Amino acid sequence: MNTYPQLKRNFLFLVIQEYYRNYENNNRILSEYINNRTLKSVKTLLRICITLLKFTNKPHYAIVNDAVEISKKFKKEKLINAVLRNILRSKNEIKYEKNIYPNFKKTIDKIFSSKSIRNYTYGTLFEKPKNYQISLLDNNSAIYNKRVFILEKKIMKSCFVQDIGNFEVINAIHKIYNDKNIIDLCAAPGGKTILLKSLGFNVLAIDKSQNQINKFKENLNRLNIKINIHKVDFLKKKFADKFNSILLDAPCSALGTFRRNPDVTIKVAEPEMKKYQKVQIEMLNKSLKILNNKGFLIYVVCSFHPFETIDVIDKIMQIHKNIKLHNIKSDKMIKRKNGYFINPYSFKELGGSDIFFVSVLEKIV
Ligand SMILES: C[S@@+](CC[C@H](N)C(=O)[O-])C[C@H]1O[C@@H](n2cnc3c(N)ncnc32)[C@H](O)[C@@H]1O
Repeated sequence: MNTYPQLKRNFLFLVIQEYYRNYENNNRILSEYINNRTLKSVKTLLRICITLLKFTNKPHYAIVNDAVEISKKFKKEKLINAVLRNILRSKNEIKYEKNIYPNFKKTIDKIFSSKSIRNYTYGTLFEKPKNYQISLLDNNSAIYNKRVFILEKKIMKSCFVQDIGNFEVINAIHKIYNDKNIIDLCAAPGGKTILLKSLGFNVLAIDKSQNQINKFKENLNRLNIKINIHKVDFLKKKFADKFNSILLDAPCSALGTFRRNPDVTIKVAEPEMKKYQKVQIEMLNKSLKILNNKGFLIYVVCSFHPFETIDVIDKIMQIHKNIKLHNIKSDKMIKRKNGYFINPYSFKELGGSDIFFVSVLEKIV
């Protein structure tokens, strides 16, 4: 896809987003024409076609012709042709519903007990999320804590783009740390590091991915700020020092970013989640080794799957008996057993937010 011209890439990206947003709905539509034994490739192609029919101006005959041509590769052109023509014949009766992939819905239901929050959260899957630009300076014309602007067309000079939930995480936790020298263990592309820096923190930033670090550096150059970012695999690195303040924004399934990346909604599979959990626990164990007594380690993931959030902290608390959990003051988060989830409903007026999990751990003697 990287070799496509930008305009085509943007178009494809939007189609892919709609494909996954409407995955369950399209399965329902297709269930009238195909069955469980239908080839996976046929189902995928048909779902793509329904997405194109609904969300693009591409002529219907062209969509059918292209699909028939492609399906010749797996010798299913008659089936594809017949299903698409049937769908087109009854296109005025087709109901486009907001169906949600069952496992994804179940995961939302596990975290949010309030019906209004659940319903709102389901609905945000079908809305195109707003982008926000966060200012490095306090600014009276900005909304929500004087730092946040809706991104219209152009990024303003002292701003960088991120989700409002990300902003709230740092907004809510930064006062907890009692030492402004902090190590950010998974820092790139720098959303949280830059916010910490703007709040007066002296950040030692590390990340293992050169790609992500390059994006981070682009941000830093544009904003004309200096932060040392080191390409380091945290799990392999030997540390001579210990720290009073640690941020671990761990790699995760990114389930909480489902509005921007609707594909995650259909990938909530246990084995995958267990893999993330293993790494997250490894990273937390190592973080605790380099944390000073009375120091604070804050664990963040942009996910709300129990495996990556509550269960991770549970397991860590079982291994380490010298950890105290701390409360967070935020009217935009919901407290669960051992951490907090961003409540997207609290950003209703701003178009919702990504969902992060945050847990604050203090090492006690
Ligand atoms: C959720 S992202 C961090 C986002 C970032 N904190 C922000 O707010 O923009 C997770 C990051 O962890 C990094 N990562 C994964 N495994 C790592 C490891 N073993 N050591 C250091 N960084 C790692 C990835 O490269 C990725 O950039």
